[in-house]
Amino acid sequence: MNFYVLTLFPDMVSDCLSYSVTGRAIRSGAITVTCVNIRDFAQNKHRSVDDYPYGGGAGMILRPWPAYRAYEYARKLANASAPVIYLTPQGATFRQEKAKELAAEKDIILLCGHYEGIDERLIEEIVDAELSIGDYVLTGGETAAIVVIDAVSRLVPGVLSENSTLDETFENRLVEYPQYTRPPEFLGRHVPETLLSGHHANVEKWRREQAILRTKAKRPDLIKDDDNV
Ligand code: ADE
Repeated sequence: MNFYVLTLFPDMVSDCLSYSVTGRAIRSGAITVTCVNIRDFAQNKHRSVDDYPYGGGAGMILRPWPAYRAYEYARKLANASAPVIYLTPQGATFRQEKAKELAAEKDIILLCGHYEGIDERLIEEIVDAELSIGDYVLTGGETAAIVVIDAVSRLVPGVLSENSTLDETFENRLVEYPQYTRPPEFLGRHVPETLLSGHHANVEKWRREQAILRTKAKRPDLIKDDDNV
């Protein structure tokens, strides 16, 4: 799967994703992340990409042309049907379901805003969907793009070991059951007996019960009235 990121801070995105699972996924070729620096497409002497807002007000606005040219460049590299997603706190909240949906795409173009915003005409012209990673305001869309790429990448076949996303939090609208590893006792706390029993069916039953208890305690909002739990 290929991600194209339109950004003023390409190193921020590529450095962050070069570690751990996403780093391995990039090195193995399971995903590619191509950062397109919007500033490279500024044609004025000072390569400036922002300007004052018409009508006045605080902050600077990303001018439409440099970002549009960066988009055209990415569009030539990406699949013609690749969706363009703008990261903004105004967008729909990014959730696991959306991550799954996006993991089925071949290419995605992510537009990162900075400063006070982006000229609205650029958004109207190129953006297919707006996503927010939560109800707070970040300094720019880069951290949000990193979050989206991370969450989507791990669902791309070959990136994680098989089955490792099956039991995880949000599957079946439950959070994940508690996990333990050696030693069997830690500071007087013991691993639950069932997990040491080697009885597969009992382990499964215990895990499901724990997932339900945990969801009720920690994330009751995930349980709908018609859920049979
Ligand atoms: N840009 C600024 N804040 C953001 C947020 N919460 N989600 C996505 N993009 C953003």
